[in-house]
Amino acid sequence: MRHLINPLDFTTDELDRLFDLAADIEQHPEQYAHKCDGKKLATCFYEPSTRTRLSFETAMLNLGGSVIGFSDAASSSASKGESVADTIRVISCFADICAMRHPKEGAATVAASHSGIPVINAGDGGHQHPTQTLTDLLTIRALKGRLSDFTIGLCGDLKFGRTVHSLINALSRYDGIRFVFISPEELRIPDYIIEMLREKQIPYKEVIRLEDTIGDLDLLYMTRVQRERFFNEEDYIRLKDFYILDKTKLNLAREDMLVLHPLPRVNEISVEVDDDPRAVYFKQVQYGVYVRMALILTLLEIEKEN
Ligand code: NCD
Repeated sequence: MRHLINPLDFTTDELDRLFDLAADIEQHPEQYAHKCDGKKLATCFYEPSTRTRLSFETAMLNLGGSVIGFSDAASSSASKGESVADTIRVISCFADICAMRHPKEGAATVAASHSGIPVINAGDGGHQHPTQTLTDLLTIRALKGRLSDFTIGLCGDLKFGRTVHSLINALSRYDGIRFVFISPEELRIPDYIIEMLREKQIPYKEVIRLEDTIGDLDLLYMTRVQRERFFNEEDYIRLKDFYILDKTKLNLAREDMLVLHPLPRVNEISVEVDDDPRAVYFKQVQYGVYVRMALILTLLEIEKEN
């Protein structure tokens, strides 16, 4: 049985097949409308989410399946002290596949090791968020036609942003990727990621000002300052508006640069940017549904049968 806990759980060949399937789903959604008839997805969300949970639920409903679950820890037995290991054993009796989000790093790994059904990590603390990464990669592949030979800038909260950590992991396996990390000193990318890039001899640089580098980028990945992972509110307030991508800054960028964002956006992208053809963060949401449909089919081994 397979799970998706870390983006590296799939080889690049497997990812290619997954993205091909997602592209086919986009073209022929009707051919997939009953692939999961009679199947159930459990969404176990111990942390707030709008997009990721609803994206999973939409994906399963689009495939003809149904959905059970909870959307915050307070309304689950976690509030009575139940462990993740016990919860997943119970959920395994109800559902065929589970998407789990948890504030603790490693929770999805624990769940997978006690589960009778495939577990998808829908975000574990500040650690990983592999399905957002699949969404990001599919968006880049669909709109740029390739997943190699890019300069990508990642901007904002690179310390706590799990989508950033997962995306760097995943992109580090493709050729010709150059990273530019744009963050204030306090929110720099973690050392373990820098070490990984050094070991693999992947070029990167760290800068503070977005204006200094935006003109060099093929892709700009903006992120929100992760308020819920800060130890004190003062630091959050000081840093939250450090970057605001507005029209003036976007004018310095290439005509074909793409602006991505995992959402939710707070202030880091001005709404005046939304109409610019380079702003693709709402398209990204749609790709997220296709890729989650493809992932559910792959983990349930459904596309092979039919
Ligand atoms: C991200 C997350 O939960 O890490 N959101 C999402 O799933 N699209 C990003 C964020 O919350 O900033």
